[in-house]
Amino acid sequence: VASDQHSCGGVNWPLFGNISISDVTMETPYTEAANKITDDIDVCDVAGIFEKLKQCDFEMFEPKGYGDVKTLFHDDVIEAISKVANIAADIMTSQTPNAIVISGCGTSGRVAFLTARSLNKIVPGEKFRYTIAGGDKALFTSQEAPEDNRKAGVNDLIKSTIDDVKVLYIGITCGLSAPYVAGQLDYCMDNLDKFVPVIIGFNPVYLARKNPIYDWDKTFYDVVTRLERLTSQRKGFLINPVLGGEAITGSSRMKGGSITMVILQTIFTHALNGVLTSSDMTSQLECKNLLKSYQNTCRLFYESSTTTVTTLMTSATQSLKSNSSVYYVSSGGSGVLGIVDSTECIPTYGASLDDVRGFIVGGYGEFNNAEGDIGSLGKNYQIGCDDLSKLLKLRDLEHNDTILVVAKSWDDPVLNEIQVEKGKKKLKLSASQSNVYVVVIDTEQGKREKNMPDYVAKLFVISIDLNEELLSENLIEICSKWIFNAVSTGAHVLIGKVFRNYMVDLKVSNQKLFHRSIGIIQRFCPSVSEQEAMTYLLKSIHDVTNVDDVMHRSIKDHVLRATPKDKVLTTYCLSAVLRCSTSPKQARM
Ligand code: F6P
Repeated sequence: VASDQHSCGGVNWPLFGNISISDVTMETPYTEAANKITDDIDVCDVAGIFEKLKQCDFEMFEPKGYGDVKTLFHDDVIEAISKVANIAADIMTSQTPNAIVISGCGTSGRVAFLTARSLNKIVPGEKFRYTIAGGDKALFTSQEAPEDNRKAGVNDLIKSTIDDVKVLYIGITCGLSAPYVAGQLDYCMDNLDKFVPVIIGFNPVYLARKNPIYDWDKTFYDVVTRLERLTSQRKGFLINPVLGGEAITGSSRMKGGSITMVILQTIFTHALNGVLTSSDMTSQLECKNLLKSYQNTCRLFYESSTTTVTTLMTSATQSLKSNSSVYYVSSGGSGVLGIVDSTECIPTYGASLDDVRGFIVGGYGEFNNAEGDIGSLGKNYQIGCDDLSKLLKLRDLEHNDTILVVAKSWDDPVLNEIQVEKGKKKLKLSASQSNVYVVVIDTEQGKREKNMPDYVAKLFVISIDLNEELLSENLIEICSKWIFNAVSTGAHVLIGKVFRNYMVDLKVSNQKLFHRSIGIIQRFCPSVSEQEAMTYLLKSIHDVTNVDDVMHRSIKDHVLRATPKDKVLTTYCLSAVLRCSTSPKQARM
């Protein structure tokens, strides 16, 4: 890429200023900063995209070039993780009605659910709860607006802990920004006799969001500084390592979501390991070793998956380009992670509900969410393999779907969905017009390849030599997240949903995304002031040429109007770049 030109789709775009990480102001949170590694990801081929995603993911563990910031292996982070594991162990073994509540919005809430779901299977007493902005609907489809509702956060927390005496509350908000979590955190700090509050996020406290929260006199920053004061008395904990910018600017579903999983799994694996019997020093060392296992797995995964992931990216791109779909199919936690990945494509890339969908072996019976089977809400809440089977029967031959089956071992039940039995194909997942790919993540030495029916386009084996009995299920599960993330990100980059490394087709569906949109246009048009940028955005949202009548409305109102609309940001970028005097409708055309 030339320094003053950016070639994209055969067109040379002028560079709208230098928009790399070095430009990020002191006030730009790390989670919203552009990453230099992916500066030109939009003009890379599949191999280039894979390489950049790999380098970005390696940064999660040891970001370089970010100055003197607290990162994952920093003593303070390890100490906080080990202390929280101690409290968790206490609660997990107590006979009194105590609980561990994990909470968040979007991917953060879904990871909260995934963690609570798997721990309730092994720890007696159903002690793990989750809350997610927007309720269980948000596990399957993006529900962005509830993220701004701090009162709903408090109500959900009260409801889920009504009968408990002691509660370990773990709020997750990658950007240290979500009002839903801020409300809960503040409530916990008002009730310290019952709650031990913990926040997981990936910015230093001074970069927590300072924008006003609707209907409240506090900001996220106010609430988290209050928590910071409690940490010295060990009445609250802050786990906030810097991970470096996301591969796609602001897309915290990726590194943010992965490290959230790593931290939570480290806390609870350590708690289950009998943390209560170890000294502070030993406990911290054990936590560090667990974190190192994830770092090692990340390296092994990327080293052995290039061909697999790039082939899948290519197929997924062709599917999206031809108006067809990408379907993920997996069992257990990987099944959940496929669904989690698909939900985020909508707000991130302006994707439709059908572009990328996830399915889990056993459907709701296996998913195990609090509200049970909500499949009656519509087809996008139907998540079982049988639902996919029915769907495929209805697809006509023109569709060029990609079906990606990810198995965590050769014994994974998902393989039964595609197996050949006694010479007869089990056609559950077959559709002659589809490209079915099977990926087996194999940790065993001996290969046990099964026969695949002829409709399987390709069987891939990703061999990861893990010396890690204890964690192996978790480590394999996170590899499936990296596969899904890379496939959906790569495909959306390749169909042009990303300019440089910015999500220029995002849905303006909550406060954070409203402000992110203004930030994006200012990146591309440095001569446009924040006020001007907002004017262009409002013109596009409200379809007006003069914003006088809409300017006074609340951000909540603007977001409500923008949410169902397509290409709001793209239109507004174009108008701002051209300083366009045409109407927003014309600009959109
Ligand atoms: O609003 C959309 C979104 O950015 C999701 O992509 C993300 O998972 C969610 O918000 C939560 O963000 P955070 O973890 O920073 O609160």
